[in-house]
Amino acid sequence: MDFSPLQSARFAYSPKLPAILRGSIHKVTTVMGSAAEPADDKDRLRAAFPRTYGLPSVTLGSGDNPGIKKAMKIGVILSGGPAPGGHNVIAGIFDGLKAANPASELFGFRGGPGGLVDDKCMTIDAELLDKYRNTGGFDLVGSGRTKIETPQQFEKALETAKRRKLDAVVVIGGDDSNTNAALLAEFFAARGESIAVVGVPKTIDGDLKNEAIETSFGFDTATKVYSELIGNICRDAASSRKYWHFIKLMGRSASHIALECAFQTRPNVCLISEEVEQKRMSLGQVIDRIVASVVGRAEKGENFGVVLVPEGLIEFVPEVKFLIGEINDILAATEHEFKALHSFVDHKAFILERLTEPSARLFESLPQGIQEQLLWDRDPHGNVQVSRIETEKLLVEMTRKRLKDLEAAGAFRGKFDYQTHFFGYEGRCGFPSNFDADYCYSLGYTAFVLAASGLTGYLSSVRDLTASADKWVAGGVPLVSMMNMERRHGADKPVIKKALVELDGSPFKHFASLREAWAQSSDYRLPGPIQYFGPSEIVDKPTETLRLEKGVK
Ligand code: FBP
Repeated sequence: MDFSPLQSARFAYSPKLPAILRGSIHKVTTVMGSAAEPADDKDRLRAAFPRTYGLPSVTLGSGDNPGIKKAMKIGVILSGGPAPGGHNVIAGIFDGLKAANPASELFGFRGGPGGLVDDKCMTIDAELLDKYRNTGGFDLVGSGRTKIETPQQFEKALETAKRRKLDAVVVIGGDDSNTNAALLAEFFAARGESIAVVGVPKTIDGDLKNEAIETSFGFDTATKVYSELIGNICRDAASSRKYWHFIKLMGRSASHIALECAFQTRPNVCLISEEVEQKRMSLGQVIDRIVASVVGRAEKGENFGVVLVPEGLIEFVPEVKFLIGEINDILAATEHEFKALHSFVDHKAFILERLTEPSARLFESLPQGIQEQLLWDRDPHGNVQVSRIETEKLLVEMTRKRLKDLEAAGAFRGKFDYQTHFFGYEGRCGFPSNFDADYCYSLGYTAFVLAASGLTGYLSSVRDLTASADKWVAGGVPLVSMMNMERRHGADKPVIKKALVELDGSPFKHFASLREAWAQSSDYRLPGPIQYFGPSEIVDKPTETLRLEKGVK
């Protein structure tokens, strides 16, 4: 392999660990806290997880931990979309495992959870891992979105774990993948097996968080990559002065990515899906917000600007959300009939016949491209694949129409020309920022300690992330304590609750206090590219979202 100079320099980077993990691993133990229960659906979750419900939360402390010295075999799975830092989680597990006992072994299951089911396994050794440390991607073992759900899949996963004589499986994934980890932990425990299952909170979307999980890994780097690109576009817009740029940003249902990028770049408009839903805004009202900025800026001769659109927006417009819910239920109930039809015309007729009247009317009013995208396959967890819905183009079309009407009425005399962009995949495999490199390595090391302590059904947790790394607090949070019941594929299922943008949280409030000024200003903020070497205030700075949530000025 021909490594770039930055790759080689990053291989040599030593990630920073919390103080508790800096000394001898043989002196690290787990300190049990109080039992952690979910906020809602307690009875149904207790019934679904009789063996892993109500486990105590855990903090790492110093003390004897005889179990940590035994030779272990751990299998690791990378699940779902890539997020910067995944390789460092594996490096953290590996280094912890080998420091505790050099005879221990680490395996990677290829291609995501399906690799465990089908026993597609590889050995991860030091020589191999050294070519991946502190660099992006999930390609060391590969990832996948297979959901382990049928009894046969659970049996096969257990057979693999037993055949490989595993002591633990570590699942590195988002809310859906860690839901799977919780189900697997419960299944192994129900079979009387002592194979631990431990999760690690991954996703660029930033929606796997709660009191014990301050952020998912990858969010920091991905938002820094997108912010650099958006900042560059802002400057291009102000230089060329001829386009409105509509930029859709990944993040699935949550608008955390859009919000963080707005803090970093100060665009003219940033839509927040959660606000649209809570204020029950119609598509027309969303357009009002964009048009107000376009018209106001045109009056100053500024026929350019930047609009950020979270990719899940369309799902949050109440009327569209209702429509998508109906389509989901129809598709779940008639999967084979629907798939037997082959043309869009037939699919559309099939759906229209079954929709309620208001939903059918709304569906008919959408451009054909969007109609087709709403009918595309759901992902294995039953989610609409929002990254494939061209919401940015829908908004441009509707804005254009509205401006035409205003022009005819003499209320708009500017010009409206546009460009559309979608930033998503560009940020998922970037070199992890120092923050993500350190955080992921610490999460991996912690996951090893939890597994070696025989704990199952936990998510690795590293907290106090706005402090310097030595002050970070490492531990574990029971997976079931983060769950609730949700409707998936037409049935109620236990799932880890997604953390969406809260309108009474400090990040949104801060944004709301600034956005009117941004709507009319061309004073964009230019964050520039991620820096890996240099002063700590530049290279180690966490996201604005995290700083605001933690009340750090
Ligand atoms: P995860 O939840 O698996 O981390 O996925 C993140 C994400 O990048 C979303 O932002 C996006 O909607 C989705 O993956 C795209 O999925 P795919 O890689 O299958 O196209």
